[in-house]
Amino acid sequence: MQSVMILGRQPALGLAELESLYGGAAIRPVGNSVAVVDVDPCLLAFDRLGGSVKFCKLLATLDTTVWRDIEDYLRKVAPDHSKAMPEGKLQLGLSVIGIDVNLRQLEASGLNLKKAIRKTGRSVRLVPNKALELNSAQVIHNHLTGVTGWELVFIRDGDKTIIAQTVKVQNIDAYARRDRERPKRDARVGMLPPKLAQIIVNIAVGKLSKSLLTSICDIPADSPIPRPLIDQTILDPFCGTGVILQEASLMGYQTYGTDLETRMIDYSQKNLAWLGLHHAMAPTCCRLEVGDATNHHWKTPINIVASETYLGRPFTDRPTPEVLTQTVADCNLIIKKFLRNLHPQLTKGTRLCLAIPAWQISPNDFKLLSLIDQIEDLGYNRVSFEHIGDQDLIYYRDNQIVARQLLVITRV
Ligand SMILES: C[S@@+](CC[C@H](N)C(=O)[O-])C[C@H]1O[C@@H](n2cnc3c(N)ncnc32)[C@H](O)[C@@H]1O
Repeated sequence: MQSVMILGRQPALGLAELESLYGGAAIRPVGNSVAVVDVDPCLLAFDRLGGSVKFCKLLATLDTTVWRDIEDYLRKVAPDHSKAMPEGKLQLGLSVIGIDVNLRQLEASGLNLKKAIRKTGRSVRLVPNKALELNSAQVIHNHLTGVTGWELVFIRDGDKTIIAQTVKVQNIDAYARRDRERPKRDARVGMLPPKLAQIIVNIAVGKLSKSLLTSICDIPADSPIPRPLIDQTILDPFCGTGVILQEASLMGYQTYGTDLETRMIDYSQKNLAWLGLHHAMAPTCCRLEVGDATNHHWKTPINIVASETYLGRPFTDRPTPEVLTQTVADCNLIIKKFLRNLHPQLTKGTRLCLAIPAWQISPNDFKLLSLIDQIEDLGYNRVSFEHIGDQDLIYYRDNQIVARQLLVITRV
């Protein structure tokens, strides 16, 4: 049974996340922003995925990419399908990815479809498109994933068209609450978005076992039932205000956070206490202590390492070459020392996903840390992905100077 995932703003990160959790063979990228996933849909733990914005059911594949043919097909099958839906006014939405059609044509097709459905006696409302793709907020606010909602997504797949129906959409309000309502935030250490924290954790976790998948299978994303406890400890040695610890705890993992600053440990502790009060969670345990990652001795067991490391000075303007050189050297030294210190404390095969700094020196051109080329000398192997290149794993915004590169490695 295949599902279709519509990937987020940086599709490569979403692909890396899916490939990590479900294996490369189960994933097929389609165009630039979609993946077809060959996993039982009930096993796709959508609410823990930070890099996929919509989860769709594959309905049909057509041997055409011509919009008029697609519309003809829809006019034929949609009225019958609508008869089988529960009573009430249908909410219909259309989204198009990679197909040659403009907004005006899309709107005209929507109205034609509405007419054809109305002939069956159903009342139907068409959600107006501001762009070819409806965004998550439009899907949520128009109840398009509800019982009488129907968002159809048309995706170009080479010389074919995939037609899919949106089943779940990212809960943007829940992400915003987790980000903004937690009691302790600190702009100085950076604001790691919860979605990116989920991606980092999922990439660090790697392939999910069948038994774990099965245990979370029947829990719907919006259920008040917490995810079951997972007997694996995730370490964040640069935990700051604890965003990674929060997201890992929500998934059901045991967490362990350390940071150089006492204040940060206090912030993480307060944020995790707040999380426990406001979210349905398994009774996970979080160990927190002050520690310099370059010489700290962590308590075992550590099963997984997920962290946004020291990122150096924040820059709002482009730094001078001298300042940039010094910042890069400082970060390189601290993270290298940390990796050396951590190595003997991990068991062979432990997987790590580290968000390390990269500096955007001109649009899409990044200065990377040199330690990446010495990763084997440090006792780790770089994990390579089937569907994306290493250079694609950089999270940034156009105007941002300090970007985050996701370094995915295993302890040799
Ligand atoms: C980019 S911030 C991480 C922010 C974090 N992801 C959060 O949720 O707030 C980096 C953190 O590394 C800490 N740090 C810097 N040098 C360190 C070191 N040598 N050992 C441990 N922590 C360090 C800083 O205090 C800061 O909290």
